[in-house]
Amino acid sequence: MRHVELKDGADLDGFRRALRGLVALGVDPDEVAWSGGAAPSLFGAIAETGTGPLPADAPPVSLPRPVGALIETVVCHRDPERYALLHRLVWRALRGERDILDHHADPLVHRLAMLDKAVRRDLHKMHAFLRFNEVRDPDGAERYLAWFEPDNFIVEATAPFFVERFESLVWTILTPVGSLQWDRRSLTFGPAAARPEGLDRDDRFAEGWQRYYESTFNPARVNPTAMRAEMPRKYWANLPEAAAIPAMIRSAPARVQAMVEAEAAAPRHRNPDKAVAAMARQEPATLAELNRIIRAADPLVPGATQAVLGEGREGAAIAIVGEQPGDQEDVEGRPFVGPAGQLLTRALEEAGIERSAAYLTNAVKHFKFVARGKRRLHQSPTAGEVKHYRWWLMKELGFVRPRLVVTLGATAALALTGRSVSVLRERGPMGFGDWSGVVTVHPSYLLRLPAGEGADQAYRDFVADLRQAREMVEGAG
Ligand code: URA
Repeated sequence: MRHVELKDGADLDGFRRALRGLVALGVDPDEVAWSGGAAPSLFGAIAETGTGPLPADAPPVSLPRPVGALIETVVCHRDPERYALLHRLVWRALRGERDILDHHADPLVHRLAMLDKAVRRDLHKMHAFLRFNEVRDPDGAERYLAWFEPDNFIVEATAPFFVERFESLVWTILTPVGSLQWDRRSLTFGPAAARPEGLDRDDRFAEGWQRYYESTFNPARVNPTAMRAEMPRKYWANLPEAAAIPAMIRSAPARVQAMVEAEAAAPRHRNPDKAVAAMARQEPATLAELNRIIRAADPLVPGATQAVLGEGREGAAIAIVGEQPGDQEDVEGRPFVGPAGQLLTRALEEAGIERSAAYLTNAVKHFKFVARGKRRLHQSPTAGEVKHYRWWLMKELGFVRPRLVVTLGATAALALTGRSVSVLRERGPMGFGDWSGVVTVHPSYLLRLPAGEGADQAYRDFVADLRQAREMVEGAG
């Protein structure tokens, strides 16, 4: 019997390394005892005893993609048999059963599917129900702290999600199975922790969450059973908004009535069709006149600082349409001046397009966001909101008369085509009625990709799309 010892918790790298060695030596899963204890510790490496060490330089194992994906989730499960089960799965997949995961009734496949499902559910719960509390360092610096109790060893697996969502904050997530710390630049994995003292539900952050939850809660759709199923009571203790649930359920009928009454007196432009019809009655004769109308209009979303108008000259050969202004654009009143804009400027340059020679604008002219403390978090516009702004965009492009329109991301593509476009599948040349166009990704999508070859390739593809746009314009003379 060979004994393979992995780090405690979810040791994906250790498991893969051991697997390579075991496969290279052709070791039968029945001959292996795996250990990797319950609670993760910081240290521990592969140590095998029995019939000599595993080869350190064994070649990678080529596995069917679904098997590789299953391994990544199942190693996070608490089940002490997970490694043995996965080893058996790999053994069978490499011995003629490459489509083994299609055999749902197979006891091994069924058991692994249950583990996979449990881990996915746990990941979803942690993404949805973890709440940060604002705490102050002794020097007064702002940081955020969260406590969460996952069922499985998912802490490392959730890290990319929280880094992406809360990249600009300094935060720590503590759990009984490990911790994460993000300082805006780097992520550190730490040991298991105990629930910190004083993580009460009464601080400002909790209040903010509660207000946000109350404001997004739709009393007409209240379903307490589904609510409890989706948000099990276990998580309520750490959820500031949970304190509001009973009162909101009690007040739901009255609030529905209030909503019905408010609907009857709804503000002028709530219905996109009516808004478009109202706009169509205005007939601006010039771009400057159109811009005056846009500037004077109420933001569709309350709280935006100003309308962000298109930038560039009429007659520009290429118009570039983004989604909506971001936080920085909203403050400065100019499109594409924030991080996504800077990436766009660089990519345009590499594609041989001078930013100042292009016309840059957005499908939606106001910043849409939700407030989280001092931060304003971007929210994508709905299809109805895109439709609301579409009339302006079409007028605007009519005045600019570009030879080609580049859409960045799905919202811009929706605005130009009037249908939902799958950008990654349909990217490249596309006709937009009066204009020829090129569909490509939004630079903020590139900013969200984890650093690595995938992100580098995605950026190169973006530049290639822009280059193609330039060549189409040049080709059209
Ligand atoms: N993203 C956009 O789509 N437009 C901007 O102006 C800035 C960011």
